[in-house]
Amino acid sequence: MFRQLLLSLLLLPLVVLPVTLNEHYHEHGGHQREYVMCQTSDGELYFYKNKGDSDSGYTTCDVDIAKAQLVNSINETGWGLLDVEIASDKISEWLQGYAAGFVEGRTSRDLIALHIHNTAEEYCVGAEEYCTRLAIFLLKNIQYMREQIEMNRKDIYWKHVNVSINQFVGIIDGYDGKVNQRLSDNNLVVHPIYLIQLAGDIEDLEIKFDKPNHLRRTWIGSGHCTALVKISENNTNLLFSHSTWTSYSSMLRLQKRYRFKLHHTPGRTYTFSSYPGSIPSVDDFFLTSSKLAIFETTISNYRRTKASTRTHPCPRAATVSNQLQRPINFSS
Ligand SMILES: *[C@@H]1O[C@H](CO)[C@@H](O)[C@H](O)[C@H]1NC(C)=O
Ligand SMILES: *[C@@H]1O[C@H](CO)[C@@H](O)[C@H](O)[C@H]1NC(C)=O
Ligand SMILES: *[C@@H]1O[C@H](CO)[C@@H](O)[C@H](O)[C@H]1NC(C)=O
Repeated sequence: MFRQLLLSLLLLPLVVLPVTLNEHYHEHGGHQREYVMCQTSDGELYFYKNKGDSDSGYTTCDVDIAKAQLVNSINETGWGLLDVEIASDKISEWLQGYAAGFVEGRTSRDLIALHIHNTAEEYCVGAEEYCTRLAIFLLKNIQYMREQIEMNRKDIYWKHVNVSINQFVGIIDGYDGKVNQRLSDNNLVVHPIYLIQLAGDIEDLEIKFDKPNHLRRTWIGSGHCTALVKISENNTNLLFSHSTWTSYSSMLRLQKRYRFKLHHTPGRTYTFSSYPGSIPSVDDFFLTSSKLAIFETTISNYRRTKASTRTHPCPRAATVSNQLQRPINFSS
């Protein structure tokens, strides 16, 4: 019984979603853009815009690494659709992260710029001391993650954290149109695109580091989702729905699909509702290739002592656990 329930819960959305995506592609056509990241035989990375003017001089790939397609149908439906695909499982895992981020950042750079303008911009104006405390914390935190990655090179969890850090760095480089620009950690943690990744954590960090009250309200409210789970009559189906209600400033929405080719990773493909430049969903609504539907609503942490640098911000924790999770087998 439970097993059937689980299957009907999990299979249905996975079937429906690709169909919906395709319909949107054809119906609206919208404003489409595609970028490709490739490697030369010497291992040098480069990128170009598919089907159109090239901003790098290249128009074909030696070795395919990653591709992103954006259909901007925000004006028609309220949603843009972003599909990111890694070419092969022979590509090292951290590079899958970097390339996925790069093509996403390049493809959606105009939407990312608008989203930054709507949300993260001016976050520190009049709050310089608070932002310094925050930056020191974030720097210690990223250094902690890098140490753990180095110390646990074989550990699949830390490998995935590395994929996710590389993906974030890739988004910035793609946004800037500069392959391998190697920003320092000091620069990474104060980048507005990092603030976008932290949308799920900042609520708690603002309390820990005493954000001044008078600031312009940003995109983060206290809680922003509602979820419903319901068993239909005679236990034939388990239905679920999720809605996000939050500030008007976060109105630019993207439905994303990431298709990684990571090893030992049941959830290597997943679709989720998200925002321009954001690796995590933030709404937290995911459907994964491990046949899981994952969603949540907010629990804020108002205890100032709780947040530690020896942890991972929500984007990494959520992304990594979603990739690694398998459905529970109720019959055993
Ligand atoms: C969406 O509408 C706005 C306002 O009219 C316009 O500036 C923008 O170019 C449109 N975007 C696309 C992708 O059509
Ligand atoms: C982590 O990513 C870096 C590139 O940013 C790479 O050089 C390193 O080998 C990766 N480490 C692991 C354990 O995958
Ligand atoms: C549920 O089961 C009852 C009793 O077997 C039946 O009368 C009813 O039609 C069923 N409802 C649905 C929606 O299948």
